[in-house]
Amino acid sequence: MSVRIIIGAQWGDEGKGKIVDMLSDNVSWVARYQGGANAGHTLKIEGRTFVLHLVPSGIFHPHVHCVIGNGTVIDPGALIEEINAIKELGVEVDGRMTVSETAHVILKYHKVLDHARERYKGDQKIGTTGRGIGPAYVHKTARMGIRMMDLLDPEILREKIYTNVDDINAILATLSHAPISDADDILQEALDWGEQLRPYLADAGKMLYTAWKKGENVLLEGAQGSLLDVDHGTYPFVTSSSPTSGGACIGSGLPPTSITHVMGIAKAYCTRVGNGPFPTELFGETGDRIREIGHEFGATTGRPRRCGWIDLVALAYAVRINGINELAITKLDVLDSFDEIKLCTAYKLDGAQTADFPMRLADFDRIEPVYATLPGWQQSTRECTTNEDVPVNMAGFIKFIEGYLEVPVRILSTGPGRNETLVVGDLA
Ligand code: GDP
Ligand code: IMO
Ligand code: MG
Repeated sequence: MSVRIIIGAQWGDEGKGKIVDMLSDNVSWVARYQGGANAGHTLKIEGRTFVLHLVPSGIFHPHVHCVIGNGTVIDPGALIEEINAIKELGVEVDGRMTVSETAHVILKYHKVLDHARERYKGDQKIGTTGRGIGPAYVHKTARMGIRMMDLLDPEILREKIYTNVDDINAILATLSHAPISDADDILQEALDWGEQLRPYLADAGKMLYTAWKKGENVLLEGAQGSLLDVDHGTYPFVTSSSPTSGGACIGSGLPPTSITHVMGIAKAYCTRVGNGPFPTELFGETGDRIREIGHEFGATTGRPRRCGWIDLVALAYAVRINGINELAITKLDVLDSFDEIKLCTAYKLDGAQTADFPMRLADFDRIEPVYATLPGWQQSTRECTTNEDVPVNMAGFIKFIEGYLEVPVRILSTGPGRNETLVVGDLA
């Protein structure tokens, strides 16, 4: 029996979708626990590419029941579109997907507010995905949010939408933005969405609890990454939820005592999309080369991702805050042609060397990464599926990471496909 949390150990886009899809073979349940359609999780199956935003990455395994947990924020229109697109592929969704009735709803006005705030901030903008994520979580914590179950109750929904629109219009006025004037259309659309989603709504936390008690295997699929966590990330350049392992319990309803494994996913290098600190960012030719070989463009927004060397200081911090006890290193093949590979092992801050990830935003402006340099393996690893296939220098790179982080690397990923993966030992 395993309840395994899969989390991004960097700034998102580490390849969580691929790993969750691959590990779904051996589980009965896959649940998303935070975030919303800001996520873009890419799966490559038999040469075809699928990008999932809200639907869990276990959906292409017919034996898996997928759950969108209470900790997520759901744009019902986007979810319906995604479900329909999956059904069009001939994949059965009905009867094997549950949406928590207590997850919060993203409506048009959340997206308007997201854009308006970003525009108002100008140079200081976060670089959000524009999916209304921040405003929806603000409403949740301000206790004025709309939950999925409210979509089924016209009276409650009308009252909440009208109250929210009044409140948002007051804010929009301060941001020199036109008011929301179509509350009734928003209401009608939301009621229609509620009817379409009614069959999926249930007490998802109770279902997961029952599954755990029966000894079934569960994957809890994080979105975003540890360094985008609202508490532990590079605040305020973060998302508005808790992608870290603590968030998995809050956002799924499973208790901490159920968790058996915390798997951190990290790229063999590092990327970030949107603004904010990125100590190992490369601005010249090498960064461009990683972006080009790794196809580092956002799965949700298409924005070019910022690229840099792997940052072990940041990863050690992710290991600490999540309790990561197993690692998957993805996109190793992207480094196949490099003659040297750098790994950041410390930061220099005001003349002193530190292995602590800064908490103060201003410190990031002054830190300088300290690197170890290892020889590249300079051969293709795309076909690498057994220990014998692993080039000696790639094994050295992995050993260095394991030694620094004191966590075993259990999965080596050398391509986007399901089979372009090496699993070390038995992943029970
Ligand atoms: P996620 O948000 O963490 O699920 O990651 P994304 O899907 O946003 O970005 C990861 C990208 O890398 C996707 O295009 C994947 O298909 C791709 N990918 C995943 N693992 C590998 C790998 O090992 N090698 C290569 N070349 N691509 C990979
Ligand atoms: P997956 O699950 C990478 C980033 C945005 C922005 C910040 C806040 O695919 O790894 P938001 O729209 O959440 O308010 O934006 O977070 N961001 C991501 N970056 N991968 C993601 O998801 C992300 N989701 C949000 O670019 O910097
Ligand atoms: Mg992504």
